[in-house]
Amino acid sequence: MEKTDIHIIGLGNLGSSFLEGLMSSNSDHSIKVYELNNEVLETYEKLYPENDYFNSFDDFNSGVLILCVKPQSINEIFNQIKGKIHEDVLICSPIAGLEIDHIEKSLGNKIIRIMPNLLIRNNNGFIPYAKNYDNDYIDFIKSTLNQLGRTKEFSEEYFPVITALSGSGPAWFFMLSNELIEAGNKLGLSNQESEILVNEIIKGLPEFISDDVTFSDLISKVKSPKGTTEAGISSLKNDSFDTIILNAIEKASQRSIELSKELKSE
Ligand SMILES: NC(=O)c1ccc[n+]([C@@H]2O[C@H](COP(=O)([O-])OP(=O)(O)OC[C@H]3O[C@@H](n4cnc5c(N)ncnc54)[C@H](OP(=O)(O)O)[C@@H]3O)[C@@H](O)[C@H]2O)c1
Repeated sequence: MEKTDIHIIGLGNLGSSFLEGLMSSNSDHSIKVYELNNEVLETYEKLYPENDYFNSFDDFNSGVLILCVKPQSINEIFNQIKGKIHEDVLICSPIAGLEIDHIEKSLGNKIIRIMPNLLIRNNNGFIPYAKNYDNDYIDFIKSTLNQLGRTKEFSEEYFPVITALSGSGPAWFFMLSNELIEAGNKLGLSNQESEILVNEIIKGLPEFISDDVTFSDLISKVKSPKGTTEAGISSLKNDSFDTIILNAIEKASQRSIELSKELKSE
């Protein structure tokens, strides 16, 4: 059977995560990568010589085009690639704020909008998607996205909050971890000691997580009446931890909506 072409434009944080996730999966694709930075291209060319690497665009005749560039670059890229994309090519966009109807104004192709996070690098991501076509065109969801993590279809109207919760999601946990390390440090541990403690917690946490247990259940398991955890939780509640988190997710979600407006007005 002929291999599906996967074209990845942009080898930054997300594009390189896609590439690494695909290279370590069981999928059998013909991967073509497009990146302006020659140093980055050469690094990946050495790492995965079986792929094709380009610093400019040629015609895209088949397969899937995955757009891994910043929202600010996308309108310019559409202008560059418009006449080069065959109508059978599936367009896959993880770009924050870029709505399907905006892409439809430039291209008449089938479009899947996704919002992955960087965990796809280890084939451990979660990939919410919305699309403008029926079924699983060229088996992209089954043979590619499902290799990189779990997938689930959502209505596109929820993408701003999905982007805030899931796309940016790893950052919230990294930030919390960073603050815990700083707290340990301020209370007498060396930075390195504090970092070991927090790193080891994070590494062990996945064991607790399953679809049958809620986080509220897990909190109850960790805390005992009048114990240390309960004292810390009371302090978080008194300091309005819930409001702090809600505000952050609302701000991130709002930014996604603003990005859509900015892209439309360009
Ligand atoms: N990072 C995440 O966790 C995440 C999660 C979900 C969705 N996303 C979305 O994914 C997109 C990419 O994010 P990112 O964090 O990977 O950004 P990034 O690190 O800035 O990567 C973008 C890459 O695209 C390259 N590029 C720009 N114009 C190009 C062109 N014409 N041809 C080829 N390559 C080009 C850039 O090169 P230069 O640096 O040389 O310009 C850069 O290497 C964004 O739209 C973002 O909304 C990101």
